[in-house]
This record gives sequence, structure tokens and C-alpha cells, in this order.
Amino acid sequence: MANQLLRVSGLSAGTEDKPILHNVSLTVGAGETHVLMGPNGAGKSTLGHVIMGDPAYVVNNGTIEFDGADVTNESADKRSLAGIFLSYQAPVEVPGVPLYSYLRTITQKRPELKMTARKFRARVGEIADQLDMGSSFLTRELNVGFSGGEKKKIEMLQLLLLRPKLAILDETDSGLDVDALSVVSRGIEAYRTSCDGALLVITHNTRILERLSVDRTHVIVHGRLVAEGPGSLIDDIDAHGFEQFERAAEAGEGA
Ligand SMILES: Nc1ncnc2c1ncn2[C@@H]1O[C@H](COP(=O)(O)OP(=O)(O)OP(=O)(O)O)[C@@H](O)[C@H]1O
Ligand SMILES: [Mg+2]
Repeated sequence: MANQLLRVSGLSAGTEDKPILHNVSLTVGAGETHVLMGPNGAGKSTLGHVIMGDPAYVVNNGTIEFDGADVTNESADKRSLAGIFLSYQAPVEVPGVPLYSYLRTITQKRPELKMTARKFRARVGEIADQLDMGSSFLTRELNVGFSGGEKKKIEMLQLLLLRPKLAILDETDSGLDVDALSVVSRGIEAYRTSCDGALLVITHNTRILERLSVDRTHVIVHGRLVAEGPGSLIDDIDAHGFEQFERAAEAGEGA
């Protein structure tokens, strides 16, 4: 198990008063593509947020290591600088901050992404074109009044600009029309090939995975990882649902 980028070990976490994840362990190697599936309310988004260091959640047990360092108690900001990226299931609106300024600020925090204002403008323009986004988006306030699909594209724009080592995409595909879905899939593919970044894709929709070669699939039910397998496990879930895993989760709860 050498050279793991992300290693989650025996993680139990939840909110102050509600345990959500129980003894979750998983590893993601550099440049690998992993998929996290599970029924509604299973704890998928929570796992993404806990890996990112969202202060809304507390870790009661276990560790999160990233790129060789224990980040369990690090702030989300530090984790982001270390190369973890989380695209939110419901991106937040930030009134008063134009998208372009926001992107410039987050890029300037990263020494490896330092570039002149002119180069930055060109780079952002290039990615916006790639994502079929008009330039008027860039002067608008961050996520304010954007449609669901537009918000997802903005997250793709950040992903391609920041080039993180690990991107956790939480239902980046939900609510997208076929054209937007294909644009976002191309964005993910571009991230995979141009940055050789690792992916943890949380999804209910296998269409987003069509362009990706999946290395590993993880199934979470009732806050427990109950199955792990190759990419073909996704087809099995598509055909048979999660029922087959519910028993394993119930057995885990009894243990
Ligand atoms: N901040 C929070 N406060 C209270 N409960 C929470 C919080 N975050 C998550 N939960 C609860 O934890 C459980 C798991 O939620 P989570 O959002 O992780 O599920 P999910 O697997 O992402 O589901 P979905 O497929 O519907 O997005 C749910 O019962 C949810 O209500
Ligand atoms: Mg979710």
C-alpha cells in the first residue's frame, strides 16, 4: 500500500450530537479514480466534508492522512493548500464577491500557481471556453443567482484552475441537462489527463462515469463502508440496487 495519496483509517465522525460515519477506512492512490456510492442519507457527503475538514463535523475516532501527512486536525484552508478539493453538492452563494476576483484570490494563495494578471486572465478565459461559459459569468457575484447547472460549471472552472492532487466531486452531475453533463464530463476528463489528479466521485448517476476509467468503487450504507470492488461493481449496483448491501450494514450495526 505504498504511495497512497489519501488514507482514511477507522474514521468515525458526525455532528456534535449525531454520529454519522462509523469506522470508515479507504485509500486513494495518486492519479486514481474512485467512486463512492450509497443510498440517500448514507453519509457520502459527510465523508467528503470530513475529508475536506469542514468544521461542521467532529472526528471522534480514526485518522485522515493526505500526501504523507496526518491532516485529521488541520483546517480546511490548510487541506486545500495541500491539494484537496471538494466540489459541493450545493455550492454556497457569496454576495459581493465577483467570481473573477474570487478565482484570482484563491490562485494567488498558491505559490505553485503564481502567474501575472495577464496570464491569469488568459488561463481563466481558456477554461471558461472549454466549459462553454460566457465571459459575463466572470464579473457576476460568486454563485449568486446562478442556475444549478451554472454553479456546477463554476466548480469545474475552479477545479481546472487549481489543479488539486485530489478532487472530491459530490454529485457534480446532479441536475445537469445532457449538454451541461457532457461539458462537465469533459472538464473532469481534462482534469484527469492534464493534472493527473486523483478523483473521488460521489454520484447516483453512472453517465458521468462513462468517460472515466474507474479504479475502485466503494459502497457506503448507514455510515459504514460495506463493499469495495472494481469499476464493474457500479454496473452491479445499477442492476440490483443497494439492497444486497443493507444486510451487511445491519450486521455491522449489530457488531
Ligand atoms: N450538518 C448536519 N447536521 C445534522 N445532520 C446531518 C448533517 N450533515 C449530515 N447529516 C445527516 O447525516 C446523514 C448523512 O447525510 P449525507 O448528506 O452525508 O448523506 P448522503 O449519502 O450524501 O445522501 P444523498 O445521496 O442524499 O446526498 C443524513 O441523515 C443527514 O441528515
Ligand atoms: Mg450527499
